[in-house]
Order: sequence, then C-alpha cells, then structure tokens
Amino acid sequence: MNPLLQKLQPYPFERLRKLFEGVTPNPAYRPISLGIGEPKHPTPDFIKQTLNSALYDPVNDLAAYPPTAGTPKLRAAFTDWLKQRYGLELDPATQVLPVNGSREALFAFAQTVIDPNKQDGQGNGPVVVCPNPFYQIYEGAALLAGAKPYFAPSDPKRNFAVDWDSVPDAVWQRTQLLYVCSPGNPTGAVMPLDEWKKLFDLSDRHGFVIASDECYSEIYFRDEPPLGGLEAAAKLGRGFERLVAFTSLSKRSNAPGLRSGFVMGDAALLKAFLLYRTYHGSAMAPPTQAASIAAWGDEAHVVANREQYRAKFARVTPILAEALDVALPDAGFYLWAGVRGVCSGDDAAFARELLAQYNVTVLPGSYLAREANQFNPGRGRIRMALVAETAECEEAARRIVQFVQSHSQ
Ligand SMILES: Cc1ncc(COP(=O)(O)O)c(C=O)c1O
Repeated sequence: MNPLLQKLQPYPFERLRKLFEGVTPNPAYRPISLGIGEPKHPTPDFIKQTLNSALYDPVNDLAAYPPTAGTPKLRAAFTDWLKQRYGLELDPATQVLPVNGSREALFAFAQTVIDPNKQDGQGNGPVVVCPNPFYQIYEGAALLAGAKPYFAPSDPKRNFAVDWDSVPDAVWQRTQLLYVCSPGNPTGAVMPLDEWKKLFDLSDRHGFVIASDECYSEIYFRDEPPLGGLEAAAKLGRGFERLVAFTSLSKRSNAPGLRSGFVMGDAALLKAFLLYRTYHGSAMAPPTQAASIAAWGDEAHVVANREQYRAKFARVTPILAEALDVALPDAGFYLWAGVRGVCSGDDAAFARELLAQYNVTVLPGSYLAREANQFNPGRGRIRMALVAETAECEEAARRIVQFVQSHSQ
C-alpha cells in the first residue's frame, strides 16, 4: 500500500458523524442541516435539458472517447465567459482546460506540480502552503504528492484575511505550491489586489506555483464581484506565469452533480497538467461538455441564484447576529461564526448540544482547520452553510439563538 495514504486526515463529515454518535436529536423539531456545503437550489432546467438531448446528438453522444482537453467549442465557452466576467482574453487552445469539478483538479494539480525529491541544503523536502481554515483537499493533495502542508492562519481582526506575513522565509524557500481560496471557504473573505501583489512577489522570488481556488466567485454580497487571480495578475500588468485558477459550475449553476469546471492560466503548467490528466483518464463526458457550454453561456440563472443567496443572507444574518459573533461575509454561502461564551467556546460541544436540543446541524470550525503553532484558528467557531431554502435557514437561525440564549444564562 502507498504509505502516504496513512497521512490523510478523516474528512470533516466523518468526524461529525463520530461526534454525533449516541446523540438523539430532539424529536420535537424537524431536522435542519447547515452542515454540508452542497448547493440545494435547483439546477436550472435548460442545463438538464441540454444534458439530456446531448445523449441523442451524434456529436455529443456516448459512442466515442472524448478528448481530455475538451472540444474547441467547450474551450471557447470558457474563454468567452472569462472575457465577459473579467475582461480577460485567454487563448482557448493553451490557457484553459476542462476538469470534472474543481475538487479533482485541485488534487491532481499538486500531483503535477510537486517534485517530491527536491530538497533544500538541510535535506528538507517540499512544502505546500495552505490557508487555515481551509478546504481539506489541499492538505490531502499535498500529502499524497509527497509534500508537507504548512498552514497560514486567517485573521478575524482583518476580515479573516490570511496572514501570509506569518509564513517564515525558510518555509517560502521550500514552497513549491501555494493554495489560495478566494472567496474563502469557510470565511467568505475575498483577497484584495495588494495581497495578490504580495503573493506574486513571493512567487517571483521563490519560484512556487499559485493554485487559486475560485469556485465561490459568483455568489457575493458586495456590489463589486470578487477579484479573480488572473484578473489580479492582469491588473498588475503581469502575465500568468506560475498561476492557475480553478472554477466550477457546482456553486455558480447549482450543478454539483454535473462534475464540471475548468482551470485557466499559465500555458506551460496547463500543458503539463494535460499530460498528467491524459494518463489519469480525466476527460469530461460529451453530454457534460454540452451542458457545460450551455451553463457557461448563460448569466441570467447566475444572477437569479445570487439574488436568492443575497435575500437569504439578508434575513438570516441579523437573526444570528443577536446571539453570535457573526457578520455578512464578502462572498460564498457560509456564515463563519464565533461561539465564545457558549459551551465554554468548545465548537464541537456546541454542535453536539445544538443537535441534541434543537435538531440543527452545524460544522465545528476546528474540524476545518489544523492546529499550527499551538493554535487552531477554527476553534471557537462554527460554519453554517445557508444552502437550504430561506424559511428553513431562518427557522434554524431562530433555534440557534434560543440555544445560545439558554446556554449563556
Ligand atoms: C473551497 C472549495 N473548493 C473546491 C470545492 C469543490 O467543488 P467542485 O468539485 O464541486 O467544483 C469546494 C466544494 O465544496 C470548496 O468548498
């Protein structure tokens, strides 16, 4: 067996199942889950219909192997979207690639980029820098690629911006890959241009690659849409050297089951990534390609989806703010709330007791972060995914307020 598999941590939902073992949720309440970050708004009909009719279209049916690089039409759909969303002109032949959801791509990219045998003068191997808290795939990708993850904490005092300055120079020197998540899961923080500049400067100095996870980019609460990594590079007058961004239809188009996204950026990196993906067998099914072309070509459903989240967050956030340390995030569909003063600030105990007494599921923040330098930045926080319908989220929020008030007395 590959010994690196032993290094993988249990997924947060596995830990949640264990935490809830033996808990009987109060039967007086119907269950509401704010635990899993899975979109629940319906997938637009035109996407499903395109998927369906593609099965009977000889160009898109299942009778041939699809190319790993996707069809020219699919790649043009990506670059058309990049033009209208960010004003960027990318070469569809070399600067974009389809992926089967951003998760597999975020994982596979580390396997393409990392050289596990490269050591510094002291015999230390490669490092992958990740935000903390973070999307757990980054850690697993780093470990299975033979690198060591290094966690940079997000700072609640600066709207959860990641404290990149806290990463020692000796760590940057060994860094081969940096994961950025903007908008962030779970914090919802969007990285501004000056932080991008800082990271580009570090990448220029140390030669590491930046993987920018942007799958929440279309769900935002400010007027201004979140800045993309490639957009930031263009604004700073740079090219896309050592920069690849990841996006997806899962959140934008409420289609997590479609498994469709794409990557964009540095042509040399994408050439190597295509080679890796060809061997790995990561081509996108032709009907999925057809449905993806339709989805990337339509913005009306994205605007409607965003409006739904905006209305929901506008109703739910003030209710929760009565009892918890919580505010409207920049973007994403999570609330990242402080629970100090309740259950002694123990986020796991909070989640367990809340389920037992009010039948509401939330995710303990410490499960989404790692202890680094004696500090777990998720401790004392919970993540609530506002993916259910507004009425259900409001009901959950009211129960949480009751729970907090009864436990603070
Ligand atoms: C931060 C982040 N990145 C990537 C993904 C993967 O999404 P998908 O594979 O559906 O594109 C998720 C899913 O929840 C996520 O939260």
